Order: sequence, then C-alpha cells, then structure tokens
Amino acid sequence: MTGDSFNLRQPFWRTNPIFTPGGQGALDIPVSQRLQRIPPYPFREVAMLKAKMIAEGKEVLDFGIGDPDMPTPEFVVEALCEAARDPSTHQYDESGYGIPEYKEAIARFMKKRFGVDVDPDGEIQSCIGSKEALAHIVWAYVDPGDVVLVPDPAYSVYKVQTMWCGGAPVPMPLDPANGFLPDFDAIPIGARRLAKLMFLNYPNNPTGAVADLDFFKRAVEFAHEWNIIICQDAAYCEVAYDGFEPPSILQVDGAKDVCIEFHSFSKTFNMTGWRVAWAVGGKKIIDALSRTKSNVDSGTFMAIQRAGIVALERYDEWVGTMRAEYQRRRDALIEGLRSVGWPVEPPKATFYVWAPIPKGFESSTEFSRQLLEKAHILTVAGNVYGDYGEGFVRWSLTIQAEDKMGTIEKAVEALRTHFVLQW
Ligand SMILES: Cc1ncc(COP(=O)(O)O)c(C=O)c1O
Repeated sequence: MTGDSFNLRQPFWRTNPIFTPGGQGALDIPVSQRLQRIPPYPFREVAMLKAKMIAEGKEVLDFGIGDPDMPTPEFVVEALCEAARDPSTHQYDESGYGIPEYKEAIARFMKKRFGVDVDPDGEIQSCIGSKEALAHIVWAYVDPGDVVLVPDPAYSVYKVQTMWCGGAPVPMPLDPANGFLPDFDAIPIGARRLAKLMFLNYPNNPTGAVADLDFFKRAVEFAHEWNIIICQDAAYCEVAYDGFEPPSILQVDGAKDVCIEFHSFSKTFNMTGWRVAWAVGGKKIIDALSRTKSNVDSGTFMAIQRAGIVALERYDEWVGTMRAEYQRRRDALIEGLRSVGWPVEPPKATFYVWAPIPKGFESSTEFSRQLLEKAHILTVAGNVYGDYGEGFVRWSLTIQAEDKMGTIEKAVEALRTHFVLQW
C-alpha cells in the first residue's frame, strides 16, 4: 500500500475504479462472489408468479408453499401476550442457549415424546426458527473444500449454505425404489473421507417419506465409522398420520456423539412467522452451534420462548387437531388425484404429496407451468429441490384458500377439464 492510501483528501478508494464506477457509490458495489454463486430462494419466484396471476383476476388454487394456513393455537398467543407484558422479557436473552425454563420444557418434551434423556444444560440450543440453525451449523463446521453429504431432492438450505461456506455439497440421491432414503453404500469413499456433515430430513420435505429407527441406526453407525456429524432436520416430526409417530435419531444409542437434531414449532403449532425452534444433540456440537450463533444473533425473544413452553406443555391436547385436519385434506387430495388416474401414495407424515409427472411432459418445470397456466393450480416443480426431484411435482396440503375441501375439488375438476393425463 502506498502512502496515498493514508491521504484523507485523496483516499485510495476514491480513485480505485472498483469503488467508483459511474460515480454511483454503494449501488455499484458488486455483491460478494459468495452471494453471486447462490441461486435466488426458489419460493420467491413462486410467490411472485402467484401474485401476478391474482393481479390478473385469476383464482389460483394454491398447493405451492408449505406454510400452515391455520392460526397458532389461542393458548400460545395468550401466553405470548402475557409474557410480552412482562418487561423482564424485553432485553437480550443473555443465556445464549435459551432461558433455563425453555430448555427444561424441551428436555421434558424430548423425554415424553421420544424417551430421550437430554441435559438442558449444554445439549439444547434455542433457535430463531430451524432454518437459521441449519445454516449456522454449516458455518460452524464447514471450511472451503470440506464435503457435506446432502440429500437430493431436499430443502435448499443444506446445499446453499454449504456453497456459501465454500464447501462441496455431494448429493445423496433419494430413490423412490429405496423409500426415498439415501443408500449409504453408494456414497463414494472419497466423499466419506472428506465429509464433515451429513444432512438427513425425516419426515422428508419434499417426498413425504419417513424413516424408521433401523434406518437411523444405520445412519449413526455410518457417522461413527466415517467420523461425520449427522444433522437431522426434524421440522415435520409431529405432522404424521394413521397413528404413526416419527422417531428421533437421538433414540439410537450413541447418537448424541455424532448427531444434532433440529426441531421446530413452525409446522407443529402453526408458528412459522414466530421464528422459534431448538437444536438438540451432544454438548460439543451444540457448543459449536451456540458459539456461531452468539456472533450473529442475540437469542430468541424471551416472551416467545415462554410461549413455546406453554405450547410444549399443551402439545397432547393440540397435536391431534392439527394431524386430523391435514389427514382429512390428504385423503381428499389422494382420492381426487387417483380418480384422474394419478398413481400417488398417501404420505405417512408431512403435509406434502410427492407425485410423479404424467407421460408426455418434458420436465417437472414444464408440467407445473402448464398446471398453473391451464388449470390455475400452483404446485412446486420437483427439480426445484435438486436434480433427483426431476419427474415429480409437490402438492402442499397447506391450502391458503378459505374453503380447503372446495379447493381440492376444484383442482381435481380442473385437472379433468384441461388435461388428458397418462402415466
Ligand atoms: C425441511 C425443512 N426444514 C426446515 C424448515 C424451516 O422451518 P423453520 O425455520 O420455520 O423452523 C422448513 C421450512 O419449510 C423445511 O421444509
């Protein structure tokens, strides 16, 4: 650097073309190369398309984004109002990990729901929604060149955050023939050696697939053998049907040494906008997440943590209502789709129906575009979730219209009217 750099009347950046193109200042500063590599968040485009059609006066039958359309239970809202009136909730949560009562309520829930013992002191981290935590666990562990094993198709955050950190996402294809579970034996040896993290997500978005404890056992064994941390995304763990109770990976002996699991209030209690979740796992892994977060955010609003305690305490009286409503919609949609010949299976969990596209359409994108343009049905093209999502579209049961069952009927009718479908 020359002496000119320190001349305040002519600082180096004033004459450096990188900083002064066209004299527009900050508007012309390119975003980081890191950000340039990242594709736009897929649902922004879907939301824009939907808004455009509504502006054109069209009724959109919206089975797109997976955002619960029903309100948060009243008892949770009440608990928040009460907690928000208490000024002691208004400051930073200095605990870093979450207030003790919140972590204790989570520990009680993990014990009651899964039979898993968790130490509230060091094995739980409160999160501002699980998306944030899924991102930050990658920041905590991944250096440029590290491998992250990522299911494909999958929620985009795992792959995008790996790229953000300069890591290499290696796909684990989710094959329908294997129940949309990854085949650990198919993971290349080189990738196993270089991998630091493996993401799993059961119950699964977008396929609706579920994992049993045997699968989790194999995953934990694999993680021990190859020295990999499993990040199991359990956002849909409570949205399950026909009496099925999805397990936690932490039910497996020895899981805590190599696993972190992410749970969320978002889907269970219709609380997507509240941004409240938790991560649970071995102390070392939780500590790494916590250290990362403490340098980025300043904790979850304490009044929301208190409302979260009430939600968990009253889980038993609520969960059946939520499950019954989605199960009603699931059954109606499956029946309707089957009535036009669509070979779809009812998911055991999640509010997604993962449906193979019919013959004669060149891609998922093309088919979902035609569904929207001709029948005004909004779904999500499977390839949005990765290359192995090609050939599918995702229907979400979180129907945003007033009349849920009517929307399903209209969609089935529109399919019948506008298409001749064959598989
Ligand atoms: C698989 C999966 N994980 C995590 C999330 C994020 O949930 P939240 O950040 O609201 O807890 C979502 C949201 O749609 C999801 O689909």
